[in-house]
Amino acid sequence: MKWRGDEISFEVVGSSHAPSVILSAKGIPPFEADEKKILAFMERRKAKKAVYSTKRFEADVPEISREGDSFRVEIKNTNVRSGDYADLYGIPRPSHADYAAYLSDGRLDFSGGGEFSARLTAPLCALGSVAKQILEERGIRVSAWVSKIGKVKGASFRNGLTNEMLRAGERGEWTPEKQEEMEREIALASREGDSVGGEIECAVTGLPGAVGGGSFGSLEGKISSLCFLIPAVKGVSFGGGFALSEMRGSQANDPLRAENHEIKIVKNDAGGINGGLSNGNPVTLSLAFRPTPSITLSQQSVNLVTRENVTVSIKGRHDACVVPRAVPVVESAVAIAVLDALLPFEK
Ligand SMILES: Cc1cc2nc3c(=O)[nH]c(=O)nc-3n(C[C@H](O)[C@H](O)[C@H](O)COP(=O)(O)O)c2cc1C
Repeated sequence: MKWRGDEISFEVVGSSHAPSVILSAKGIPPFEADEKKILAFMERRKAKKAVYSTKRFEADVPEISREGDSFRVEIKNTNVRSGDYADLYGIPRPSHADYAAYLSDGRLDFSGGGEFSARLTAPLCALGSVAKQILEERGIRVSAWVSKIGKVKGASFRNGLTNEMLRAGERGEWTPEKQEEMEREIALASREGDSVGGEIECAVTGLPGAVGGGSFGSLEGKISSLCFLIPAVKGVSFGGGFALSEMRGSQANDPLRAENHEIKIVKNDAGGINGGLSNGNPVTLSLAFRPTPSITLSQQSVNLVTRENVTVSIKGRHDACVVPRAVPVVESAVAIAVLDALLPFEK
C-alpha cells in the first residue's frame, strides 16, 4: 500500500501472516501526539467479541518512532494461524484478491490475504489518529459512522447531519438508531455461512473554504484515492452522490443566502465541495463496502495447479461484516487526505 499526496506520502509493508506490518510516512507537520489517543483510536479497529468480528484477536501494540517530518509505526502480528489456509493452496477465494495476486506474481499461497489483508489498515489507523489530532488542533473534526448494513438503513447525513452522528465517530462505530437491527442482519447472514456489506458515512466539519484544487487537484479526488486503498471499498460518493443523477438542477443545487452579511450555503447536496475546492460546508461522503469475500457457504473456484474446477468452503477466521471495524479506517483515510490538502493551503 503506497500513497503520495502533495505534502504527505506513506508506504505500508508486511502482510497478514508476516512477522509485522510497518507504515513509514513523510511530510507530517510538527505535532505533540497523544499516544493514549492513538491507542484508543486503534482499539476501535480491533477485532471484538461481536457478531460481525473475526476471532483473530491481535494486541495491535504500535511501536512508534519519529524523526523530523517522518513517522514510522510497526505492529507485530501475534496471532497467525497459516494452517487455516492449507486446503486453499492454489485455490483462490472468489472475489478476494487471491486470483488477481496470482496473475500479478504467480503466487499460489494465499495465506491470510497476504499484503491485501485488512491487517495493513492497523498502522494506517495510527497515522490516521495523528492526522486527526493535527486537524483537531485547527478545529477540524473527522467523524464516521455505520449508515447501512445490507438493506438496513441507519442514520444518514442526507437526513440532516446531527450531533449524535458526529459523536458516533468519537464513541465507536454505530449511531444507536437501528444498531440492533443491523447486528441481527449480520448474525442472520453469518449463521447461514454468508456475509454482508454496507455503507459508512463520514463528515469533516470545521474545514475552511477553498481547500483543495481545481480539476486535477480536486479534494474529492484526493479523498477518494485514499478511501479506495481500504480493502472492500467499492464505491465512494460525495453529498447527494448517485441520487444527484436522478434530480433536476433546481432540486440538486444548493442555494446561497446572506445572513447578517455572512454567506451561507443553505443545504449540502454538493457534499461541501464545488469545483474540487471546499466551500465551507461540512464535507460529507459515503462509502460502499462489499460483503466479506471469505464465506463458509460453498462457492465455485478453480485449482490453479491442476486447472480443475473445485468447490470451496472457506473456514478460517473472518469478519462476517467488515463495515463496523472499517469506521476508524475511513476516518483515517479521510483525515490524512484532508490534512494533505490543508498543508499547502497554510503555507
Ligand atoms: C476492517 C476490514 C476487515 C476485513 N476482514 C476481512 C476478512 O476477515 N475476510 C475477508 O475475506 N476479507 C476481509 N476484508 C476485505 C478484504 O480484505 C478485501 O475484500 C480483499 O482484499 C479484496 O479487495 P477488494 O474487495 O477491495 O477488491 C476486510 C476489510 C476490512 C476493511
